[in-house]
Amino acid sequence: MSISVTRLSYALGAAVTNVDLSQELDAATVAAIRQAWLDHLILVFPGQDISPAEQIRFSRYLGPVEEYPLHHYRLPGHPEIFHLSNVGDDGQLGSAQMANLGRHWHSDLSFTAHPAMGSMLRCKQIPDYGGTTCFANQYMAYERLSPTFRALLDPLQAVHELFSKTPNLKDLDQGQVKDLKKGNPRIAQPVVRTHPETGRKALYVSEALCSDVVGMSRAESTALLELLFQHQTRVEFTYRHTWKPNDIVLWDNRCALHMAVPDNDHLQPRVMYRTTISGTPCGTLLDA
Ligand code: OGA
Ligand code: MN
Repeated sequence: MSISVTRLSYALGAAVTNVDLSQELDAATVAAIRQAWLDHLILVFPGQDISPAEQIRFSRYLGPVEEYPLHHYRLPGHPEIFHLSNVGDDGQLGSAQMANLGRHWHSDLSFTAHPAMGSMLRCKQIPDYGGTTCFANQYMAYERLSPTFRALLDPLQAVHELFSKTPNLKDLDQGQVKDLKKGNPRIAQPVVRTHPETGRKALYVSEALCSDVVGMSRAESTALLELLFQHQTRVEFTYRHTWKPNDIVLWDNRCALHMAVPDNDHLQPRVMYRTTISGTPCGTLLDA
């Protein structure tokens, strides 16, 4: 039985059906999923009521799975699963430190020299409305620029920093912020990244994590990055996912940006299980 792939939007995203992720997959099915992933950047697998161990096994078909670095947010018994929830340890809605994670456009772990290849969220609980996630195709964003502007961008590098923008800072205590800053020094990443599997070029800056362009003045950096931030998330480059419980969404961080749209007000639980798939090294340390 082969998988069915149905496009979800103009820019990116496809739904994959006719596959049961609670089962082991044969090599032909894994290859078909990988090809669909490379073609569509974001895959949605609806109706996958699978266990954490099954999610980890499925993730491993795509690459090595990371253990989430902050112990506090690991699912007990499964260090590979990041428990992304707006319910705090006190049971209060919205009090979780990670309740507002990912509210600005970003690519996972681009602030490290080993950025994530892929990330996979499985929806456990979602509010009756809202709590959506948006994705933007960065091949398309790059290809829509003029050849002259692309040539200007091609050799540039930008500084990526965990706390470049500080959407979650208010939720963390100062000790945690200090530790995170120490553990995550600034990294220079290519502004235009060549995807290691497709060979296509994609924009690799993002509003949440990028501060400066290496070698430019603050005014030059700000003007250039503002232009790119506006351009790279134009509505026609995006797909917005409205979650249903047991949806699994897999995205390619090497050619797509994502953000948690701030369209839920923590009146109801929003709970996701995430796995992170390691990619090839990219970027150089600036402060070493
Ligand atoms: C993430 C993330 C977005 C969301 O898990 O990396 O950015 O909508 N999540 O929860
Ligand atoms: Mn993210």
